This record gives sequence, C-alpha cells and structure tokens, in this order.
Amino acid sequence: MTSTLEHTNISVASEAMETKSSIYICLFSLWFLCFIIINLVSSALSSTWYDDHISQRESNADENFKFPKNFLFGTASSAYQYEGAYLTDGKTLSNWDVFTSIPGKIADGSQAKVAVDHYHRYPEDLDLMEELGVNSYRLSLSWARILPKGRFGDVNMAGIDHYNIMINDIVKRGIEPFVTLTHYDIPQELEFRYQSWLNPQIREDFEHYAEICFRYFGDRVKFWATFNEPNVQVIMGYRKGTYPPSRCSKTFGNCTRGDSEIEPLVAAHNIIRSHLAAVNLYRTKFQEQQRGKIGIVMNTIWFEPVSDSLADRLAAERAQAFFFTWFLDPVVFGRYPREMQEILGKDLPEFTKDDLKSSKNGLDFIGINQYTSRYAKDCLHSACEPGQGGSRAEGFVNANALKDGLPLGEQTGVNWFTIYPQGMEEMLMYATKRYRNIPLYVTENGFGENSTGVMLNDYRRVKFMSNYLDALKRAMRKGADVRGYFTWSLLDNFEWISGYTIRFGMYHVDFDTQERTPRLSAFWYKNFIFQHRAQSKNDDA
Ligand SMILES: *[C@@H]1O[C@H](CO)[C@@H](O)[C@H](O)[C@H]1NC(C)=O
Ligand SMILES: *[C@@H]1O[C@H](CO)[C@@H](O)[C@H](O)[C@H]1NC(C)=O
Repeated sequence: MTSTLEHTNISVASEAMETKSSIYICLFSLWFLCFIIINLVSSALSSTWYDDHISQRESNADENFKFPKNFLFGTASSAYQYEGAYLTDGKTLSNWDVFTSIPGKIADGSQAKVAVDHYHRYPEDLDLMEELGVNSYRLSLSWARILPKGRFGDVNMAGIDHYNIMINDIVKRGIEPFVTLTHYDIPQELEFRYQSWLNPQIREDFEHYAEICFRYFGDRVKFWATFNEPNVQVIMGYRKGTYPPSRCSKTFGNCTRGDSEIEPLVAAHNIIRSHLAAVNLYRTKFQEQQRGKIGIVMNTIWFEPVSDSLADRLAAERAQAFFFTWFLDPVVFGRYPREMQEILGKDLPEFTKDDLKSSKNGLDFIGINQYTSRYAKDCLHSACEPGQGGSRAEGFVNANALKDGLPLGEQTGVNWFTIYPQGMEEMLMYATKRYRNIPLYVTENGFGENSTGVMLNDYRRVKFMSNYLDALKRAMRKGADVRGYFTWSLLDNFEWISGYTIRFGMYHVDFDTQERTPRLSAFWYKNFIFQHRAQSKNDDA
C-alpha cells in the first residue's frame, strides 16, 4: 500500500515506550527461560522441533540481515471475521451475513454475528497490538456499515463515527492503519438489486463507497487496499460456488445456478474495473493532499512444476496467469496475461479505451497474501485424471499438494494448507520480476490449526513464522522491495466456511467469554519485532 517510504513516519520511540520496553524485556527474559525449559523437556521427547527451529536459526547466515527502519510489522484482520455487531448502529445485512445463515454452508454451522466482538472490544485488542510492539494494523471496513443500501441510500453516520473513533485510537498509539475497502463482504442490497459483481453497475457503487472512505478517513489512512483476494473471491463465489453468491456449473460444484466457465471472468473483470475507478478517483481527487498509497491485495500460491519437463514448467506459469497475474497484469500493463488470452479467447472480457487510459500502473503497491504452495502439472498436452484443475477455465493445470503421495512441504490439519516457506521467497521474487519497481507488502501470512482446542504452546506457528520470515529476508536480500509484513492473525476468528474450527491467532480466543490469551507465538513475534527495533536504533547511533 505504499510506494515511497517518506510518509511512513512511525513514531516508535516515545519515552513512555522506552520504560515499557524495559519492563517487557524483564518479562520477556522470564518467559524465555520457561520457553527454553519447556522445549528442552519436549525436545528430550522429540528433538525435531528443536533441530528444525533453534539449530536452524543459529546457523542461519541471514542473522546480519536488517529490515529497513520504517518496515511495517503488523497483524491483519477483516471486518466480517472480527467485528461482530452485525446489525449494530445502522448496519444492514452483508452477503456473508445472508450466506452463513443458510444451513450447511459453514462447517460448524456458525455465523459471525458476534465473531470476536472487535466492534466493541477494539481498544482491548489495540492494547494487545501495542504490547506486541507492532507499528501497523491491517483492517478492513464493513461496506454495509458505511453504506447500508449502497449508493441507493444514505451514508450511515453511526458507522462513520465508529471507524473515525477507532482510527483515531489506532493512530494515537503510533500504529499505522492499513485499510482494505472490501474484504469479501458487500451490502446484500447490491446482490439483491443487480447481482453485484456480475453487473458492470457495481463499479459505480464501489467508486461511491471508495470516495466516502477517502473523504472521511483519508486524512489519517495512508495505506489503502481496494480489494482483498479478489482471485479467491471469484473462484469460490462463481466457479466452485462455496462462497457467496454460491454460483457454479453442476460439473464444478453443488449450485442451483451459475456458469463456472464464464461468470468468474465477468466478476473479475468488474472487480478490476472497480479497482481502476477507485485508484483513478484517489489519484485525481485525494492523493496529492492526503499523500497516501493505494494498491490491491492478492492471494498467492507458489506453483512448483511437478517435473522438469517444459510442459510442466509452462503449466506452472499458466497457473500463475489463471490465479495471480489475472488481476495484476490488467492493472499494471492494461491487458490480461497472454496465457489467458490464448486459452480463453473471446470468453475473456475486453477493456474499453476508457478503462485503459487509467489502467497503466494502476496501483502503488501489491499486497501479497502468502500461505501455501502446490505442484503444477500440465493438462494441455497430457491427459489428467478427472478432478480439480484440468479444465479450460483453470488453464489446463492440475494443482496438487501431493507428488507420488508426498506433500510439497509439511502437511497441516487444514486440507488446503501445506507449509512450504520457500514458496514465500519464490512468490516475492516472481512478483518482483514481473512487476518491477512496484513495492510489495506481505499483507497476510500465518498458520492455522484445525482444532477447537486452546493450544497455547503453538510451537508449530512459531516455527512457521520464523521460517517464512527467513524466506522473506532472503527475497529482500535478492532485491525484492518488501516494505511490510502482517501476520494473520492477532486473534482466533471466524475462518469463513470453516467457521470457528480453524484457529489462526497468536492470541487464543474463548468464543463464549471473549477472553484473549497469548500463545507462545505472541511472545515470539514481540521479541522478533523488538530485536528489529533494537537493530534499527543501533544503526542510528
Ligand atoms: C447440495 O446442496 C443441497 C442444497 O444446499 C444439499 O441439500 C445437498 O446435500 C448438497 N449435495 C451435496 C452432494 O453436497
Ligand atoms: C479439520 O479436521 C476435520 C477432522 O479431521 C476434517 O473433517 C476437516 O475437513 C478439517 N477441516 C479442514 C478445513 O481441513
């Protein structure tokens, strides 16, 4: 969400914080002692974690690496997954409120009417962030809270007031707000009136919404992301039909209507045009005065060719086209990726002359959400077994976590998720090479456990973060212009169709009492950031 460094002046070193820091160091030393003891005991039982983690870090040649002084370290959240307060202060139903109320859609039958009650408890959550020492917070706004009826109704001033007070509180603590306009949730009104993203009209609604946000919050918000993971949104919503609005063809999923070959392309096209309209608006009416940056956040999967064959290497490239560059090439270069054009031909919507005028370099940064990787296998020149990936709509690529029955990286309890830190480095280098000079932010990275348990000793999450951050450093040493890292997530929260069964938090949340309890990873991240700060300070001296 930023392309130049000058506006990210984060006030890190107030005197109050220095005093606090010494207390933290004491607490931290105590904690670390316990941590070592726990791990010595557990390593006696199983030495793998110690070997993988501590010894690997000690021998890591990157120890001298320093993050730039104004690098953003943060945690990430989204309105629907955190806020709750689903009909509070004039908010109306969002598409996700409606979707989650349909039996069978969510693994545990839950909804996010309360979620982690961030709407009411954000001051407590900002306390936790302050304690961690983060200098940025990535959050999203609820469109249905600000414009309950889209452009067909008034601005809901109670919603504006809420975000104003919250943003003031964030800024007051020396934390930089990094704000996503739409993180999957939209007013249901727009679905109901004209089928939302399938209709070009949505661009007017999105532009109107963006303008309201820039106008009310842009004096303090210097990082704007238009969309979060629009690639996942359209694939799940319109190809597989597992997210709202639950549309797909019979061969792709269990929907009553939809067209998995065409509708994802249409929805994506309207999202890209909406993004461009918002960027154009920001640049022409707000950016000069407000001096912020605007970009988009993409989900990324690193696709590793399943073999060295040319066909599989081309398949891996096609996989990126049909997942990642699909949205970014139009925004940066004004056209869809060549691989998509070749395969989809006339099914790919066209940009108008007007679109193209504003589309060159239509972003200031790219947000990269990086969790997992897949093997890519060619299905264009060779026959693939029926199942995921072989279709034209997916670029004739089979994307699979397994090769000869073995996973790429380490399997987790979450079916879509294998741990492959190298994928972070590969993905950042891929984006760096393709979109040269565009700054990158890792807007999400984190570890999810498939369990309803408490799991305060989350050593797997610590190892995950440590290894992915090492991979991020390697990419930066090779020239990737990465300017921030946001962990998903501060708290356990509502994990979309998995409901509350998958926990991503550095803090455990008891969903009955809303009590937050730090896990090992919270202490680890705090220490990681603290060391970075100490290094930056030494450089200044
Ligand atoms: C498909 O969806 C319908 C309606 O939501 C549901 O009753 C049915 O069990 C689903 N079928 C499968 C195979 O998931
Ligand atoms: C979580 O684990 C359960 C039980 O093993 C499994 O049925 C479910 O599919 C898992 N959820 C995900 C998202 O992987």
